[in-house]
Amino acid sequence: MPAFRTATQLLDFEPTSSEFLEEVITGLGRAPKSLPCKFFYDERGSHLFEQICELEEYYPTRTELGIMRRYAGEMAEQIGPGVMLVEYGSGSSTKTTLLLDRLEGPVAYVPVDISGEHLHQTAESLARRYPEIEILPVCADFTGEFELPVSRRTPTHKAVYFPGSTIGNLTPDLAERMLRRIVEKCGCGGGLLIGVDLQKDIATIEAAYNDARGVTAEFNLNLLHRINEELGGNIDVDRFEHRAKYNRELHRVEIDLVSLCEQTVEVGDASFDFSAGEKICTEHSHKYTIDGFADLAARAGLELHRAWTDERDYFAVLHFAVAEAEQ
Ligand code: AVJ
Repeated sequence: MPAFRTATQLLDFEPTSSEFLEEVITGLGRAPKSLPCKFFYDERGSHLFEQICELEEYYPTRTELGIMRRYAGEMAEQIGPGVMLVEYGSGSSTKTTLLLDRLEGPVAYVPVDISGEHLHQTAESLARRYPEIEILPVCADFTGEFELPVSRRTPTHKAVYFPGSTIGNLTPDLAERMLRRIVEKCGCGGGLLIGVDLQKDIATIEAAYNDARGVTAEFNLNLLHRINEELGGNIDVDRFEHRAKYNRELHRVEIDLVSLCEQTVEVGDASFDFSAGEKICTEHSHKYTIDGFADLAARAGLELHRAWTDERDYFAVLHFAVAEAEQ
C-alpha cells in the first residue's frame, strides 16, 4: 500500500454541473440577484485568483504570508505533535509548507478544496515533498457537508488550518455556524489556526478589490463566462461591469456584477431580466477586529489562545482551541 493516497484516490465531493445550474437559476431568480462566490474557482478562476494574490494593491496574501514566515515555528508549537492537519480551501498550499516543515511528527495532511484539478496537482507534489506524512486530499465545498478521511496512524488530535481570510466570505452568523462545525469535526483536543483580514482604512481595502490592471474585474466576470461555457448561457459579458464597495455598517466589501443596460439573459430554459444598473451580488469579504472575531468564535465553542499580526495590524492569524465545555 502506498504511504499516501495518490490523487486518483482523492475523495471527491466536487459540485456537479447540475448543482451549478441549480444554484445559478436560484441565485438569478432572487431579488436582489446573487451568485455563490465558490463558483469563481474553476481552473481559470483559480489561476486569476493566484494573479490577484500577486497584485500590488492586494495586501492580504502578502501580509498573511509574512506573518506565517515569521511565526510558523510558534504556530506549529501551538498546534502540537502528532496532528491530523485539515486545510480548508487549500488552493496551492503555499502557506501550508511553512507549517508542515515545522510541525512535530504530523500524522496526516488533509487538503480540502473545491477545485479538483488544482487539488490533484498540489496533493501529488506534497506527497513527494513529505513522504512521511500521509496526504489525504478531499475535493469538496467545505461550507457544506463532507467526511474527513481516516488516516492509517491515529492522530493525537485534529486541527483545522483555514488561511486566506476565506471565512470573510461568510456573513458573521454563517461564519459562526461554520466554526461550530469545525469544533464538531475536531472534537476533543482540537484546534483551529485561521487567517482573518482586519478592519483598516477604507481606501486601502477598496483598492485591494479594484486593482488598476483589472484582474479582480476579470476574476468576477469569469463567473459569467463559466455560465456561458458550462451551462450554455447567452450572457454578453461586455454588458456587465465589476464593482467593489466597502459597506461601513456591515464591515464588508460588497462585490457585484452590474448590468450596464436593460437586458434579458438566458441560462438553460430560464431567462432573467435586468434593468440598467441592476446588480448581481457575487461576493462579500468581511473584515473583523481580533476581539470581534474572538467573540464570534467563542459563541461557536472556541477559545482564543494566540494571535499573530503584522506591524501595520492589517491581518491576523489566530489560534483557537476547542473549549473545555465542548469536549
Ligand atoms: C479568497 C475570499 C479571501 O475576500 O479577499 C479577492 C477573494 N475576491 N478579490 C477576499 C477575493 C476578490 C478573497 N478571499
